[in-house]
Amino acid sequence: MALKTFMVSLAVAGAAFVVPATAAQLTVGFSQIGSESGWRAAETTVSKSEATKRGVNLKIADAQQKQENQIKAIRSFIAQNVDAIFLAPVVSSGWDAVLKEASQAKIPVILLDRDIDPSGKDLYLTAVTSDSVHEGEVAGDWLAKAVGSKPCNVVELQGTVGASVATNRKKGFDTAIAKHPNIKTVRSQTGDFTRAKGKEVMESFIKAEGGGKNICAVYAHNDDMMVGAIQAMKEAGLKPGKDILTVSIDAVPDIFKAMTAGEANATVELTPNMAGPALDALIAYKDKKTAPPKWIQTESKLYTQTDDPQKQYDGKKGLGY
Ligand code: AHR
Repeated sequence: MALKTFMVSLAVAGAAFVVPATAAQLTVGFSQIGSESGWRAAETTVSKSEATKRGVNLKIADAQQKQENQIKAIRSFIAQNVDAIFLAPVVSSGWDAVLKEASQAKIPVILLDRDIDPSGKDLYLTAVTSDSVHEGEVAGDWLAKAVGSKPCNVVELQGTVGASVATNRKKGFDTAIAKHPNIKTVRSQTGDFTRAKGKEVMESFIKAEGGGKNICAVYAHNDDMMVGAIQAMKEAGLKPGKDILTVSIDAVPDIFKAMTAGEANATVELTPNMAGPALDALIAYKDKKTAPPKWIQTESKLYTQTDDPQKQYDGKKGLGY
């Protein structure tokens, strides 16, 4: 074989190894929620790189936290006749009509990181999400172990009202602490998954609870709200991580920074790589007609101050958070 032909064959073989045959032609529209948190920013970054790895053309529409913008984006993806639609649904209800339109256009929809109401079950191909009830349980179990039999008043920073993950993370935590009558959630309010609102709501909790004296722990549905709450505690002269325990969800680099400083206690990891498994499922579906399971579950791992937070921070800081 002439060297040139051999080199071309190698290049083709190499390309075929990295990019599956039909994936190279796929265009996927992704209706992303926005950029409310560090986790969300990382999910967007990772989605782009996972698509590039597979030779998929990923078009991302940022909905700026608004369901109406997500619905518009989905309709625009349908009009463009994309090969599939990825949807991170800001809230769980109100999707049936637009997903029926996608289904009529024979465009498969894959949910990323949040769920929709059961009425929409037949309207998407698969959902790549964590078990968000379990995340809340892991957080509650950690707290129960940390406080033992000591009375503990908890304040809770909830995620976006109506988001599946907010409902489920509350449910899981409530179930876990219900087994421990010494632990009570005394205040619970949404901080909309943002750092600024987390701080604002925590300031009001501190004022309402004797300057923080009556608070034993903060449970936040994400790390960004906890980072805001940590700031509020410090400004009020409290020592987060010591005077008041913290447990939250996501495992973003900034929470590991706070853990390294002794200002945060625990986090439950949520992988930002939802798109990778979703793209693999889509490619298998398109290439081999293999139907994925209805739920592709991602892992939920607990990290505490004993898990070398500095190392976790170093490992995550360049990943788009
Ligand atoms: O749906 C996942 C949640 O959305 C993340 O935990 C949170 O940080 C984000 O905004």
